[in-house]
Amino acid sequence: MKRVAILISGGGSNMVSLAQSMTGAHPARPCLVLSNVAGAGGLAKAEALGIDTAVVPHKPFGKDRAAFEAALIEVIDAAAPDVIALAGFMRILTPVFINHYAGRMLNIHPSLLPKYKGLHTHLRAIEAGDAQAGCSVHEVTAELDGGPILGQGRVAIEAGDTAEALAARVLPMEHRLYPAVLERFVQGNREMLLLD
Ligand code: GAR
Repeated sequence: MKRVAILISGGGSNMVSLAQSMTGAHPARPCLVLSNVAGAGGLAKAEALGIDTAVVPHKPFGKDRAAFEAALIEVIDAAAPDVIALAGFMRILTPVFINHYAGRMLNIHPSLLPKYKGLHTHLRAIEAGDAQAGCSVHEVTAELDGGPILGQGRVAIEAGDTAEALAARVLPMEHRLYPAVLERFVQGNREMLLLD
């Protein structure tokens, strides 16, 4: 059975969808939910699901990213995960951290990559006049939001859409896409998955 550590910063709805998918015949189980924010809503949800949780706040480390990441690595490695799933983890990670988990770290990003890396993805898609928005699950490499894409879910942009309305329609697609890609990934399948 593979072990999956899930890193969050906020409400953790993607973490819940991942954790709930890892039951029965699924080849993995969640071993840790870690947040860099002490009050993150996802922590209580993880506890309710019976998953071990940890908090490594970034604030005490100030600008010392190396020390923050060393603390993260210590806590993560103590849980001995095979796969690291970033699920709304809103800290930029340096190559030291990324290389430590090379080939076994995934992220979900709320755009159809390679479009709209970074923040405010839905607003940028609407302002560009795109017909579609969506989400991508990709392997994490040193390039921000730039690793190999393993799956995408597409959602139509409707006339008059606001970023909030669009985000509310993309999020359920994230909840379908991420568990599907994770299950394939732990089985060694890195073929691109497309959902509509
Ligand atoms: C999700 O929409 C995820 O795609 C996004 O944060 C949200 C977290 O929601 N991630 C990023 O923007 C990463 N750059 P959740 O805490 O409810 O899963």
